[in-house]
Amino acid sequence: MVKICCIGAGYVGGPTMAVIALKCPSVEVVVVDISVNRIAAWNSDQLPIYEPGLDDAVKQCRGKNLLFSTDIEKHVSEADIVFVSVNTPTKTRGLGAGKASDLTYWESAARMIAEVSKSDKIVVEKSTVPVRTAEAIEKILTHNSKGINYQILSNPEFLAEGTAMQDLFNPDRVLIGGRETPEGRKAVQALKDVYAHWVPEDRILTTDLWSAELSKLAANAFLAQRISSINAISALCEATGANVSEVAYAVGKDSRVGPKFLNASVGFGGSSFQKDILNLVYISECNGLSAVANYWYQVIQMNDYQKNRFVNRVVASMFNTVSGKKIAVLGFAFKKDTGDTRETPAVDVCKGLLRDKATISIYDPQVTEDQIQRDLATNKFYWDRPVHLQPMSPTAMKQVSIAWDAYEAAKGAHGVCILTEWDEFKELDYRRIYNDMQKPAFVFDGRNVVDPEKLRAIGFIVYAIGKPLDSWLKNMPAVA
Ligand SMILES: NC(=O)c1ccc[n+]([C@@H]2O[C@H](COP(=O)([O-])OP(=O)(O)OC[C@H]3O[C@@H](n4cnc5c(N)ncnc54)[C@H](O)[C@@H]3O)[C@@H](O)[C@H]2O)c1
Repeated sequence: MVKICCIGAGYVGGPTMAVIALKCPSVEVVVVDISVNRIAAWNSDQLPIYEPGLDDAVKQCRGKNLLFSTDIEKHVSEADIVFVSVNTPTKTRGLGAGKASDLTYWESAARMIAEVSKSDKIVVEKSTVPVRTAEAIEKILTHNSKGINYQILSNPEFLAEGTAMQDLFNPDRVLIGGRETPEGRKAVQALKDVYAHWVPEDRILTTDLWSAELSKLAANAFLAQRISSINAISALCEATGANVSEVAYAVGKDSRVGPKFLNASVGFGGSSFQKDILNLVYISECNGLSAVANYWYQVIQMNDYQKNRFVNRVVASMFNTVSGKKIAVLGFAFKKDTGDTRETPAVDVCKGLLRDKATISIYDPQVTEDQIQRDLATNKFYWDRPVHLQPMSPTAMKQVSIAWDAYEAAKGAHGVCILTEWDEFKELDYRRIYNDMQKPAFVFDGRNVVDPEKLRAIGFIVYAIGKPLDSWLKNMPAVA
């Protein structure tokens, strides 16, 4: 029986291993983590992450060929294939701070593998890493090998949160990079055999190590670039009276462009896009390619611009001040169908409103109060550390309260900001919300989920990203 151990029981490690266990009953899969609480949650009825379909998959194989454990050394030493899916955050200090990838957790995992191994192993990079990380890991392992043979593979993960299970069951591609030596090719084949249990052969791509590592960074940069591109156009739509949804539809009808990832919004979030682009920028700079670095950096600058622009619209349209005014924030997760808040635009928008002394009432169907308070108190980049290394739960901020539903959040508010595209926000009784709000009542739709005309008919002043502006907003221009 092939034994797999995955170090890191997070958004990637948990779902990917659950799917491998489900699809490969003959493979034993153990997911290990230094976080005792996270492993306890994986072993409970309340899994540590929300992902549609995940509960089912875990329940079907947990206790059979899928285990969650904190006994890292035992399971690593027994495994044939070790996946490493630990945090690879942006460095916060020292060389490359604010851009380069911090490989502390990766390196300590590699050193631990070297220390406890007693048999040959295939070590798989699942985390997103800078190009040539495999070489560094290889050096750590071979310099401490005690005669054990290690093969390093790069197998970046392309799942998207919110659709992780669908993406894993039916991936566009699985990418495996390995050394072009007989041992390297054998290791690639061994991993290919695992995926071949359910992924058609023509979707399993094999490359050299460096191309696999770079493909992941490039893929995320391309995706984020599309969002920044349509967001740039959304600002121009507002200035000219065009409608960004119409423009996106017309542009996306070109089969060379395609319709996906062209929704204008308050900005992209998630743990990966910004981090991976910063990483790409840093690698480009290190290779003397400043034009390449500047090009990709623009994608992040456009995203920051979009978030600022949104806050400025809110403040400007409410007579240039939100001081002491209650603002309801609907949605805090970085997108719908996930409870993940890492790099969510909601953090920047809320911090922007708090700077202007607003009082905020937040409702999100999946994000806990503790998480929201922690996010609003955490400095940029510190969120991507194992939980026990993050700041303790901060004392709740006085200007921020958490509501049980959208109606409670909006009661007595001057404005409502929609920051996540949860389906339920489309179906709300906006007349009831309007009746309970201060007047004039504003809706700022950062995800284009509501029909502005219907809301205007109720009496709201509506701002929707990239849509023709109300005369109210035209008369109260915001600094871009
Ligand atoms: N979240 C995504 O959508 C996504 C998609 C593709 C790739 N990735 C990449 O995958 C990697 C993991 O991301 P994630 O979202 O699962 O992160 P995560 O923070 O949810 O999980 C990482 C886990 O690793 C654990 N960990 C850290 N150091 C450890 C060690 N030495 N030993 C054991 N456990 C350790 C942490 O406690 C944590 O539970 C990152 O490199 C990320 O960029 C993420």
